[in-house]
Amino acid sequence: MTSPDSSGRKKRIFSGMQPSGEAHLGNYLGALRRWVAMQDDYDCIWCIVDQHAITAGGDPGELPRNVLDLAISYLAVGLDPQKAIIFVQSDVPEHTELAWLFNAITPVGDLERMTQFKDKSQRFESIPAGILNYPILQAADILLYKADAVPVGEDQKQHLEMTRDVARKFNVAYGETFPETEPLIAEDVGRIMGLDGEAKMSKSLDNTIPVLADADAVWAKVRTAVTDPQRVRRDDPGDPGVCNVYSLHKFFTDIETRADIETRCRAGTIGCVDCKRILSDNIADAFEPFRERAAEFHAKPELVREILDDGAARARVIARQTIGEVRDRMGLDWRSAIS
Ligand code: TRP
Repeated sequence: MTSPDSSGRKKRIFSGMQPSGEAHLGNYLGALRRWVAMQDDYDCIWCIVDQHAITAGGDPGELPRNVLDLAISYLAVGLDPQKAIIFVQSDVPEHTELAWLFNAITPVGDLERMTQFKDKSQRFESIPAGILNYPILQAADILLYKADAVPVGEDQKQHLEMTRDVARKFNVAYGETFPETEPLIAEDVGRIMGLDGEAKMSKSLDNTIPVLADADAVWAKVRTAVTDPQRVRRDDPGDPGVCNVYSLHKFFTDIETRADIETRCRAGTIGCVDCKRILSDNIADAFEPFRERAAEFHAKPELVREILDDGAARARVIARQTIGEVRDRMGLDWRSAIS
């Protein structure tokens, strides 16, 4: 997809993350670093999806702090309120309104077939409707802004297909209103594995490195990372091809150093601890500017509030416009029977 379309208008991008506190390395490598890079070429809207988060049944006492911490992470890594709209989903009630309206055209069978629904619903004895309807709210997030494209990971592909289905169905039933939003999947990154080397990096598995961690905190995490499981003693030859620590070097360590590490690992002349030290130092250096920016926001959280309030106000201008159009098309404008 090229950035501006033939009319010169920038394409609109929407994406969001659930607030589970400070962002981590997996969020950064898989999503945030791309989002930052897109801000000059696209008309970007970055959301914190707190209404999705409540379907996971977290502690309500922790949610406000988690939203603030994710907002600070967004700003710290370089999402820029001068270039993009940054806001919290629940500040724009049109998301849930549009989701309700989309309920009218979405077959339950389609929702039940979603892989994420099948996985998540295993965990419940009585499945909350919000788990089933999750993709409808996601479709509403995206279509409320008529987004042209959504940068997401592979795991969200099915939700994007659902979004396109909803748009198509709506357009057929009520007239051309919504675009068929494209997913922008970063093929080059792949799955960022957690430090346990077993599962995708995820906060709930405690196998991550927070993006605002300082050098000691990064080391405390990297030190525990699983390496080539066949390598037991320091002078055993290792296989960087199966080592998760080595795979993280790819993002943080220059090519010559990496080549040197690879050779010495295979020869058994560099130990895992030394290899991890290099990685840890490089990650801490890469995160340094994030920590500096975050410190300002931690000292003045009211700045974050201003940014998010302003973002919500700007988002609502677009949201109201779309909702007005949708209400008209669906016949939810009873006053038109009078005048
Ligand atoms: N479901 C997404 C996730 O878990 C979060 C999300 C909600 C989202 N609404 C969105 C992502 C809209 C992109 C666009 O990662």
